[in-house]
Amino acid sequence: MSAEAGDRLSRRAFLRTTGGAAAASALTASMIPDVHAAGGDTVQVALVGCGGRGTGAAENAMATKGGDVKLVAVADVFESKMKGSLKQLSGKFKDQVKVPDDNKFLGFDGYKKAIDSLGKGDVVILTTPCGFRPVMFKYAIDKGVNVFMEKPLTVDGPSSRKMLELAEEATKKNIKVGVGLMVRHCKGRQQLFDRIKGGEIGDILAMRAYRIHPPVGSAFTPPKPAGENELLFQIRRFHSFLWASGGLFSDFYIHQIDECCWMKDMWPIKAEAVGGRHYRGEDIDQNFDSYSVEYTFPDGTKLFYYGRHMTGTPQRFFSGIHGTKGSAVVSLTGHTPGRVRTFKDQNMKDDQLIWSFPQPEPNPYDVEWQDLLDAIRNDKPYNEVPRGVQASLVTSMGRRAAHTGQIVTYDQILKSDHEFGAGVDVYAGKEGGEAPVKAGLDGKYPVPEPGLKGDREY
Ligand SMILES: NC(=O)c1ccc[n+]([C@@H]2O[C@H](COP(=O)([O-])OP(=O)(O)OC[C@H]3O[C@@H](n4cnc5c(N)ncnc54)[C@H](O)[C@@H]3O)[C@@H](O)[C@H]2O)c1
Repeated sequence: MSAEAGDRLSRRAFLRTTGGAAAASALTASMIPDVHAAGGDTVQVALVGCGGRGTGAAENAMATKGGDVKLVAVADVFESKMKGSLKQLSGKFKDQVKVPDDNKFLGFDGYKKAIDSLGKGDVVILTTPCGFRPVMFKYAIDKGVNVFMEKPLTVDGPSSRKMLELAEEATKKNIKVGVGLMVRHCKGRQQLFDRIKGGEIGDILAMRAYRIHPPVGSAFTPPKPAGENELLFQIRRFHSFLWASGGLFSDFYIHQIDECCWMKDMWPIKAEAVGGRHYRGEDIDQNFDSYSVEYTFPDGTKLFYYGRHMTGTPQRFFSGIHGTKGSAVVSLTGHTPGRVRTFKDQNMKDDQLIWSFPQPEPNPYDVEWQDLLDAIRNDKPYNEVPRGVQASLVTSMGRRAAHTGQIVTYDQILKSDHEFGAGVDVYAGKEGGEAPVKAGLDGKYPVPEPGLKGDREY
């Protein structure tokens, strides 16, 4: 079970958000059976999910220092995505992109073939929508291949329990795993964390974060075009479907929720939230267009999160902290540069500035890859999955509170049994026309109805 993994997570691990890669693996470091002793060897990379982020991650990998990195295989369910990605990557990294035609895998079983093309010490990049993470991560572990995978890692309780079990297996097999919560690798935020720990702004009383901008990505979706394959439609519009991405809430908000929890060095134990669908016309997606969440930490500290996606309203992206002796900015206008800073008072104005991280700052999307490849080349324990699952779960806790209209505790989300992507392992293995969620006769998919659907989000 997962009860064990769940128990460990709920009782002990949530107390600290900083354990991360090293601590998670240190537990079993003495049990490591064998190592990748390749210092300086070529690390081969396969890309599964050749979209925007996957292409970016492959670039970050090939730009690292300390040894050769080559892209040797790609997989996707859309040929156009695969071709577009390869064209971009070959243009920038001509000598490092070595993907023969028979290593271009189209279709739902492509991930297996891409992973099969790798050897020990190599890395597969998993940048499909999150719904496929558990099935693809498991296959990589079975094959003994290192992994970089994007956030979120999970969308609900069952997928979180599954990923925690897989994380333990990965550690036992000495597989290195990086998770795309790149902010954790940001040099400025790391210094900010140390300063907060050192007491620069006193004890944290409250945190607040905002992500307010017009609809972006595939979050809001008009009716499915007639004739389009159901599963491919949902994958193409994955921000619209809770099984695929956790919806816009999980996909967009996880970074800021995670960075605030990191600064507090604790995970929250409950969430209370409101949200709704306003003027959404004929849209068929499962998202709300506004969310407001109050997270509570074990010591009573609050994190207030605000998300809104409507055209014609002012835009805002910000994460900040209020302490007993001052305040801090965790994200000023975006993930990178973070432009972190601390202040003597609560107004966060320049005349009360204590410290700010010097610009320009290193790009954390590059740093996270340097850290992963350093761990691979030097055989350092490295498994970011437990922390990534906790961040995903805490994010789901806030989303679930908004979607159900109930107060949701950490234990409740962890132990909940609504598995959004049930059967995705089947879909990941074939060219299916169906999908984990079905539209009604009106072409609309089930949406959250707080108060009406009990403890189910849809
Ligand atoms: N860390 C960050 O800042 C960041 C930024 C953007 C995206 N992301 C994450 O990266 C992931 C991908 O996002 P994106 O914006 O690149 O989306 P995208 O749609 O551009 O790319 C996803 C790709 O995966 C492919 N795909 C889907 N299902 C597949 C399957 N079963 N097998 C093989 N290929 C499959 C799609 O065809 C597409 O090419 C998401 O989890 C997202 O949250 C992270």
